[in-house]
Amino acid sequence: MTQTAADASQSVQTNPKQSQDRRWRSVNRTIRLNGNQPDALIETLHAVQESFGYIDLDAMQYVARELTVPLSRVYAVATFYHYFTLKPPGDHTCVVCMGTACYIGGSTAILDSIHEGFGISPGETTPDGKVSLLTARCLGSCGLAPAAVFDGEVAGKLDAATVVEKIARWADHDSES
Ligand code: FES
Repeated sequence: MTQTAADASQSVQTNPKQSQDRRWRSVNRTIRLNGNQPDALIETLHAVQESFGYIDLDAMQYVARELTVPLSRVYAVATFYHYFTLKPPGDHTCVVCMGTACYIGGSTAILDSIHEGFGISPGETTPDGKVSLLTARCLGSCGLAPAAVFDGEVAGKLDAATVVEKIARWADHDSES
């Protein structure tokens, strides 16, 4: 049921178009609904951001290819809008899904607990640079709601305590090493 960052990045290198990764399927749905039109660039980048929490170079290259727009234009748009994040700045990344199913399932309580425990809101990184917190609209895993992605690994049926514990382990583990 889980999907690792390695799986996700591998799907970027191979063919996201045929990927079984639900996040890519969500991006591909947006591309398809817009008929692969270059005009759909911003909407497609939104889909990538919402699905993955950020837009990396592999994703930009894929979008450029699928919409037949120059990579330079994709990069220009992705860097122009503050909404888009090219890379999570923290050593670890937690993307909390705020889609309808996850919202109903308690994702707001999860965000509140992260804020209480680590003092960060969505889009922020802990002062020590260890953890970045992002949100997504839907990870495509609604059956697992509430869901989040920890360093590229999708986890579901979460509660606030489990998420806080997971993030705390990152901090503890890193401070030991
Ligand atoms: S709403 Fe959270 S995975 Fe779909």
